[in-house]
This record gives sequence, C-alpha cells and structure tokens, in this order.
Amino acid sequence: MTWFVRLMGAALLTWVTAASAETVGFSQVGAESDWRTAFTADMEAEAKARGINLRFDDAQGNVERQFSAVRRFIAERVDAIIIAPVVVTGWTPVLKEARAANIPVFIADRSVDAEPSLFVARIGNDTNLEGRLAGSWLAQASRGRCSIVELQGTIGAAPTIGRKAGFATVIALFPGMRIIRSESGDFTEAGGRRVMAEFINSTDGLKDVCAVWAHNDDMMLGAIEVMKSAGLHPGKNVLTISADGVPGIYRAMLKGEANASVEVKADIGKYIFDVVQGYLAGKHDYPKWVLIPTDLHAPEDAEQMLQRHGGS
Ligand code: AHR
Repeated sequence: MTWFVRLMGAALLTWVTAASAETVGFSQVGAESDWRTAFTADMEAEAKARGINLRFDDAQGNVERQFSAVRRFIAERVDAIIIAPVVVTGWTPVLKEARAANIPVFIADRSVDAEPSLFVARIGNDTNLEGRLAGSWLAQASRGRCSIVELQGTIGAAPTIGRKAGFATVIALFPGMRIIRSESGDFTEAGGRRVMAEFINSTDGLKDVCAVWAHNDDMMLGAIEVMKSAGLHPGKNVLTISADGVPGIYRAMLKGEANASVEVKADIGKYIFDVVQGYLAGKHDYPKWVLIPTDLHAPEDAEQMLQRHGGS
C-alpha cells in the first residue's frame, strides 16, 4: 500500500510541475557578435534553471523573419513572448496581435518605438548613456582634440541610434573633436574589417586620425587586425573606444592594442525572467523600463574583467 501511495504522490508532483511550467517564446536578433551569443547562452541557462520551457528563434538579423517568429509563438499560444528586436521600427501590428491574443510581451536588450502600452516592460541598458560614456572617455584621453572615425552598428537598431547620439552629444562640447568618417559595420567583426579597410584607404592610412569609435567590440576587434596589417599601432598611436566588454577586447587591452570599452552586461536572463515570471504570477506594477546598469573598463581592470567573464 505504502509503495502505491508514494507512486501516486510522485505522479501527482510530476503532473503539477508540468502543468505549472511556463512556455515562453524568445525571439533573438541573431548571432552577429560575441555579446549576442553570450546573451543567448545566458537566456537558455537561466530558463533551464527555472524549469521554463523556452522556445527559441534566431532571426538571423532579419526583422521580417522576427515578425514571423512572434506570430508563430502567438499561434502556439505560449504564456509569454520575449523579443530582442533587430530594429526599433515596424512593431505595432505584431504587438497588437499579441495583445489581442492576451499574450504578454517583454522587450529585452534593444528597444522599439511602438506605443509602450503594447508591451509589459523593456528590460535593457541605456544605449545613449553608453555613447556619452564613450565620448567622455575619449574627450579626456585626447584632451578634447581628436579626429575620429566611427564604426556604426546595424542601421535602425536601438544601440546604433542611442550610442551614436550619446557620443555626438559629448563631442559637440569640444570644438577640437569631430567625426571625419562614419559607416555601418553591422555589429560584426567582418564588418569592422571591411569598413576599417575603406577608412584606411580614404584617409591616407588614417593620417591625422586620433581615434576609432566602434559601436561594439566585435567591429573593433576586426578593425584592430586591419590596422595592424596596415602597419598602424591601435591602442598606441590610434586610440580605441568601443562597447560590450567581451573577452576578446580585454585580451586586446592586455596586449596594449585597445584602450577602453563600455561594458554592456550579457548575463541579464535573471532580470528578464524575474519580470516575466513575476508578471505571470500576478505582479503587474513593473516600470516600463527596467534599467540594466552600464560602466566603462580600461587596461587597469582588464585582467579582472576577463576572469569575471570566464576568459583567459
Ligand atoms: O543590442 C546590443 C548590441 O547588439 C551589442 O552591443 C552588439 O554587440 C550586439 O550586436
């Protein structure tokens, strides 16, 4: 009899757990950078640790594909949808469809320009602040006199818009600072290589260029390789400032080839799922923007940051 009661108890427990596990759709931008792949890995690990059934879709940098993924999640009647949007625009129709189906939507990492009532909250960083931090670091490092080449991220993406604007706000305060070339490298290392090769050609080998500002580290790492091949010395006679704080940039700092990076935290699954699960459990008073803090790192703490990110 006892074994029968135990067996029934275990079966009941399994049923209750299975019945209460949330199914969450997660539409991710793609795998364009080391930051992005670290973020995906963190989301998958966090969902697993919480017993969440995560349906993952990689949009491969294509927003139309991302709209289709979200529509599929709606048709599957998931409990909640998390979107890390490729670009800021075009989201209103699909967000309205999710609302009509009564499925709460959470915006993660990048922002959208849709009406805020169409989603529960955005959990993410302040990209304008990241640009201002980068510009302030460069103003100080160059004593306010610097010709800059800029590697932009994906056109229309929130971090490209925010970082560009924040950086421009700060350097506008210094008459001796200006951007002389600016092009998109699409947040990829290959894009950074391609655009830097063009900059080197069109500026007579970066003549009179004092710094490279890249909207992410992957583009900067590509640009560093191209500069070295052209006989330049990034980190020494060309200053570098970028964003993300991936292990590769800390390694470059330790080799004296990069100067600073604004850290964008990638291990943010815990904050995102706290909001998603809290909302599904009935807490409905989250702020529209759950802010993830940002800071800046330089060679002085590169070793420590590398260890914190599990690199060597
Ligand atoms: O949205 C965050 C940005 O997207 C990261 O800074 C960049 O590396 C990524 O592609």
